Amino acid sequence: KIIILDFGSQYTQLIARRVRELNVYCEIHPYNHLPEFDTGVKGVILSGSPYSVRQEEAPQIDFRSLQSRFPLLGVCYGAQYIAQHSGGEVVASTIREYGRANLHYVNHASALLADIPAASQVWMSHGDTIAVIPSDFEVIASTESVKVAAYHVKGTQTYGIQFHPEVTHSTDGTTLLKNFVIDICGCTPSWTADAFVETAVSTLKEKLGNDHVIMALSGGVDSTVAAVLLHQAIGKNLHCIFVDHGLLRKDEYEQVLESYRHMGLNIKGVNAKERFYQKLSGVSEPEHKRKIIGAAFIDEFDTAAHAVQSELPAGIEVKWLGQGTIYPDVIESVSVNGPSATIKSHHNVGGLPDFMKLKVVEPLNTLFKDEVRKVGKALGVAPNILGRHPFPGPGLAIRILGEITPEKVRILQEADDIYIRNLRESGWYDRVWQAGTIFLPVQSVGVMGDERTYEHVVALRAVGSLDGMTADWIHLPYELLAKISNEIINHVKGINRVVYDISSKPPATIEWE
Ligand code: XMP
Repeated sequence: KIIILDFGSQYTQLIARRVRELNVYCEIHPYNHLPEFDTGVKGVILSGSPYSVRQEEAPQIDFRSLQSRFPLLGVCYGAQYIAQHSGGEVVASTIREYGRANLHYVNHASALLADIPAASQVWMSHGDTIAVIPSDFEVIASTESVKVAAYHVKGTQTYGIQFHPEVTHSTDGTTLLKNFVIDICGCTPSWTADAFVETAVSTLKEKLGNDHVIMALSGGVDSTVAAVLLHQAIGKNLHCIFVDHGLLRKDEYEQVLESYRHMGLNIKGVNAKERFYQKLSGVSEPEHKRKIIGAAFIDEFDTAAHAVQSELPAGIEVKWLGQGTIYPDVIESVSVNGPSATIKSHHNVGGLPDFMKLKVVEPLNTLFKDEVRKVGKALGVAPNILGRHPFPGPGLAIRILGEITPEKVRILQEADDIYIRNLRESGWYDRVWQAGTIFLPVQSVGVMGDERTYEHVVALRAVGSLDGMTADWIHLPYELLAKISNEIINHVKGINRVVYDISSKPPATIEWE
């Protein structure tokens, strides 16, 4: 495997994804919390950083001890750091070194640059530049304005690049990473979805033995794939619980439950609609709604878990809580406001009720989202589950602005069903990252026949995104919007107006609450 040491760059996770696309396993660790460098480690990459190596508080690393043991690739800050601490000089750049540039000198004899075309486009993003390199460094690539675009430390397997190979604007970035990871580090490209499944199942078997595991499923990709993996390892000893909080999409509870049964999962549905509606009655503040739903969910899960336990033969106890946590939720992030490592909390459904002293098993906690989908595919999970849009844990509760009533839920479910069905039928569903319908807390005047009406408004939202952190609204065709609007207004009693949300994130968020 490859170890990526993170200095807080926004691109670090992208480096990891690119390396994994080469079917080589890699891990991200903060520079100030080093992992064990066991025999499996074949090479180390030092990431970029929002810091400048010239700053006093710049992150420090003992790269020499790494350099003597592993091939080392410094990217941007990583490259500048190695250069500066080997006797070179890094200065503030006098010209802008942001955006596209083309290499105009490439040393093809260098192992790092094999098969990189002479005028290859690269992506620069730095305020500092390497002005002087030590005598044992050689420049292996330059652009018009950046002489030291890439260097090699003679007699070693240490390389530095001042551009970003991980972003797609660096057109041959993947080739460069392949040269490093496969040719220089000697990694075998054997980390595939099938290989992951095989290893994960046998590791889980060993870890869990005959133990029983309980797990809450949400109908989403992560919890489903985690459950199928656990099911392959321990079969009926996995007890799944699916709580209907009454805030799912139309007919979703029944459909998802049916697919789970079809997959052979040992699943128990809990219809808790009325209890959730009751607890939410009269509440309109979004964070308050979220808290109520979170707490009610834990109550329901706990009751269901006790029921599972009570049905087991005497002496057999549920020991584990399964969770669909994925890698981005557990990567320790380097804080930019002070170089300390913090652990992100994840917002997975449920969490651990503290009175249930269960150990946690998270079979997907080394995978990125797109890898979870690939693993799901390798496990034979149905495409309609794998291709699902993300759906927030509190569900329609945060898409009904203000107070929630069962009637509003019903109206929203009907409208949303028409919207999503039309997206599917028109082929737009898979081109959208997330879509949903929002029930607005206003009424407006309309006419139907000779009657004046005073009814509700829904907003349609469809966004494109990579990870939900930023998002763009999708330019759905007018004809499609017209069809959806007509269908909703004609078929959903209580709605006389449909609007389309044309805001991007930031500054708007994806959800309205
Ligand atoms: P925002 O609205 O913050 O949403 O742009 C970003 C992503 O997060 C989802 N989201 C939630 N997911 N519990 C969840 O599990 C929540 O309370 C929650 N709020 C927002 C949202 O659907 C989008 O995918």
